[in-house]
Amino acid sequence: MKVAIIGIGYVGAVSAACLARDGHEVIAVDVNPTKVKAILSGQAPIIEPNLPEVTAEAVAAGRLRATEDVATAVAETDMCLICVGTPSTQAGSLELNYVLRVAEQIGAALKKRKGHYSVVVRSTILPGTMDGMVIPALEAASGMKAGKGFGIGYYPEFLREGSAIKDYDDPGLIVFGARDDATFERLSSLQESTSDRVQRVEMRTAEGIKYFCNAWHALKISFANEVGNICKAHGVNGVEVMEALVSDTRLNVSKAYMRPGFAYGGSCLPKDLRALRYAARQLNVPTPVLDGTGLANDVQIDQAFQLVTRVKNVNRRVSFLGVSFKPDTDDLRESPHVVLAERLLGKGYDIAIYDANVRMSRLTGANLAYILDLLPHISRMLREDLDQVLAFSDTIIVGHSKLLKGVDPAKLEGKTIIDLAGLPLEWRERKDYYGICW
Ligand SMILES: NC(=O)c1ccc[n+]([C@@H]2O[C@H](COP(=O)([O-])OP(=O)(O)OC[C@H]3O[C@@H](n4cnc5c(N)ncnc54)[C@H](O)[C@@H]3O)[C@@H](O)[C@H]2O)c1
Repeated sequence: MKVAIIGIGYVGAVSAACLARDGHEVIAVDVNPTKVKAILSGQAPIIEPNLPEVTAEAVAAGRLRATEDVATAVAETDMCLICVGTPSTQAGSLELNYVLRVAEQIGAALKKRKGHYSVVVRSTILPGTMDGMVIPALEAASGMKAGKGFGIGYYPEFLREGSAIKDYDDPGLIVFGARDDATFERLSSLQESTSDRVQRVEMRTAEGIKYFCNAWHALKISFANEVGNICKAHGVNGVEVMEALVSDTRLNVSKAYMRPGFAYGGSCLPKDLRALRYAARQLNVPTPVLDGTGLANDVQIDQAFQLVTRVKNVNRRVSFLGVSFKPDTDDLRESPHVVLAERLLGKGYDIAIYDANVRMSRLTGANLAYILDLLPHISRMLREDLDQVLAFSDTIIVGHSKLLKGVDPAKLEGKTIIDLAGLPLEWRERKDYYGICW
């Protein structure tokens, strides 16, 4: 493949050298003449382990060249990867000027070029930037339509400085947001050895994946640091704690709990987080991550409340399916579903509840005490018959999706569904369906 790499910083310099090493013909482009000269003389334009050797070999083999001119690079290649910087502005927003400037230059170069060309962005940009800004800039400058006149894609980069070549060769994640098949095929042929691991998604999904990977990494670091701080104050070895924590790949470092949905609850998480935060306060240890976690959970309950109260509901009646803190238990303690029901009750809603596992006559101990304290009228709201609860109102709040298993969506035609649980597609496609965070 003949590929142009536009912007030869940490991402561009590594991609250019590795692609050339793998046999592709690469032209690297940068506005900085020092970087262009460095490549032309076979030197790496940035500090990165093994990059000097890979760059020198690629240049010596004649597969890696450099120029300051975008038009030349576009004229001589089949695809370009935009790797220019997207730094923060002073206000914290994303500086897109470099990307847009390059898009205009590529667009202008496409006018003079014959044959299909693929424009792919690798710079980190927020969801919707390709559709809202990059594509319009390319279309305006080229006079062509993206997806027809030229191919378009977003291919986020996940490499880490310091191990960039290793990460390039064995990436943890490969995501192609390619709209047209020709661009998808071109991207796939760039890294044939890992093409079986490619996940093809919508462009704006690819844009989002990059951001949330970085947010997740940042959250992991801050969580581990906070664990260290709290442990130190308690005289506990935080490193040992975290080593044990990550050794559990079933619940701790795994897919578990990593699905958008409703708030957490139950007899452990809220109570234990509160106790940790309280004890840390006594020891003068700040706990912003744990504080934020509790806050985020309250916000999620509020999201559900807003969802229910915003839909048209003339007689203020709701049917609530599943109120225990998770399916397959009758535990109502600190259930966010119960908190939501209580808030709706306070707003004057009339509620009918169905939960296959919750029977007032069977509740005992702390569970019973909790429900009598927070929702004393629950026994009046609880019904034992699902059909009766479904018929009670035109707004169905789904707390546990399995309670609707076997119910024909057509049977609930005309009713509003508020989904806190993640119902299957057949429910999501209907009118008057609202998901908590999807
Ligand atoms: N550095 C990383 O570890 C890393 C990892 C993944 C993703 N990213 C993302 O990749 C993008 C690039 O990051 P970076 O660290 O390589 O940036 P960088 O600042 O090191 O390099 C950007 C390069 O783009 C060049 N450039 C700017 N405008 C140009 C133009 N009009 N024409 C040609 N070249 C131009 C600059 O001169 C510079 O050499 C950013 O969006 C960043 O968020 C970075």
